[in-house]
Amino acid sequence: MKILQLNQIFVNIILLIIVLIIGLNSYYSFVHSEEISKNFQSLHKISQSLTEKAGNPDRGRKILQDANNVTCLICHIVPSINEPDQGKIGPSLEGVGSRLTKTQIRLQLLNPKSFNPDSIMPSYYQTENLYRVAKSYVGKPIYTAQQIEDVISYLYSLKSK
Ligand code: HEC
Repeated sequence: MKILQLNQIFVNIILLIIVLIIGLNSYYSFVHSEEISKNFQSLHKISQSLTEKAGNPDRGRKILQDANNVTCLICHIVPSINEPDQGKIGPSLEGVGSRLTKTQIRLQLLNPKSFNPDSIMPSYYQTENLYRVAKSYVGKPIYTAQQIEDVISYLYSLKSK
């Protein structure tokens, strides 16, 4: 009789553990799917232009060449720009318009850490959570929304031959 009761308790404990595992598992997949849909929403936004006015590739090229404003050429080679001192810290941007979509380029400029959490590339459109920002840049991104879109349209025009 005692053994039977012990058996019953044992079976009940096992059942309880199974129910707990199933419950936790479905809770986890619920939370996880919420996270995925949140990411999807931000991805959806990032696919849209930051401005009403379309980006202009000629202006974008000039912005990139402007040595006074954290130029991309410190770190990247852009062969179509005639500038002798181009950096090799980042990948060459030759033909980048054939490799990446406009959305991917926009995300790279807004949040380089979304591709590489250890990225040393600065965000060109971030104003918060920065450390010891130069006075002239406090509360101000490196590029305006229009400059971001101009640079995207220039980079997107760089197709591989
Ligand atoms: C301080 C160095 C630095 C600066 C300045 C910089 N980048 Fe980058 N960039 C990188 C590095 C390093 C990578 C490689 C990926 C990573 O680690 O984020 C990268 C990756 C990229 C990529 C993805 C290239 C690919 O083929 O996947 C693009 C596009 C890009 N940068 C554009 C720009 C533009 C446009 C500017 C200027 C507005 C700029 N970068 C300024 C360092 C820099």
